[in-house]
Amino acid sequence: MYISVKDVNKKFTQKGKLFTALENVNLEIERGEFICLLGPSGCGKSTLLNAIAGFDPPTSGTVTIDGREVRKPSSRNVTIFQNYGLLPWRSVMRNVELALEARRDISKSRRAEIARKNLELVGLEKFADAGPHQLSGGMQQRVAIARALAADPEIIFMDEPFGALDAITRMKLQDDIRSIQTENRKTIIFVTHDIEEAVYLADRVVVMTPNPGKVKSVIRIELGPSRDRASEDFFRLREKIFQIFCQKQDYQIEYAI
Ligand SMILES: Nc1ncnc2c1ncn2[C@@H]1O[C@H](COP(=O)(O)OP(=O)(O)O)[C@@H](O)[C@H]1O
Ligand SMILES: [Mg+2]
Repeated sequence: MYISVKDVNKKFTQKGKLFTALENVNLEIERGEFICLLGPSGCGKSTLLNAIAGFDPPTSGTVTIDGREVRKPSSRNVTIFQNYGLLPWRSVMRNVELALEARRDISKSRRAEIARKNLELVGLEKFADAGPHQLSGGMQQRVAIARALAADPEIIFMDEPFGALDAITRMKLQDDIRSIQTENRKTIIFVTHDIEEAVYLADRVVVMTPNPGKVKSVIRIELGPSRDRASEDFFRLREKIFQIFCQKQDYQIEYAI
């Protein structure tokens, strides 16, 4: 298995008391999968993402990627956050180039070429010389996606990346990230609290519940690559996932609906 989360627990100290943010999480992810971690605020989505990405290892249990235990972040992977993480004093182009500046094996001209290609991919080649502040939130997030892709990562971690965007812009970016993933087959682990977003994007949805943070269910979304938010199947899946949140019992079964 490419990514393996085994018996992971994470405890934090809050006001002198131990708080269980993740309890006994087990999860296996294949290379090239689009995984959404879905659940309400506080259920441990970011904590799980940070454990897999190596930012904050678990209290007990293990995370392995490609058979190696994760203890710190790897430069082979990238993370995209809600606040875009662009440097305001750098042009759009130079923000994308940033992904490659540590690479001694890539010349300046090659770096510019890769940056330009990825800006084209997200439709922002005309804004290469603009500053981030001249762009809308959606466009800034596109720059962050171009920068992530320029690094040619193995895994892209995304923590509620479209949370700050208006609904229309968010739908457009969801389309972008889906087509990018279909073309490039990157492994993507995407955190969201939006059921519709998860059903639209994921190969599998990991449904998480809080107090303590647990995986309640893992659902395979068999809707194929081109998805229609208005289709009957889409509504049925959305409803099914909502029901899973409402069910009292705890379980972790994997099934396709
Ligand atoms: N560094 C920390 N110290 C103490 N408590 C934390 C820390 N990080 C997260 N928590 C707690 O763990 C729980 C899960 O947090 P988080 O993973 O951020 O949830 P989510 O991303 O699903 O909203 C929350 O109750 C949060 O307050
Ligand atoms: Mg979070």
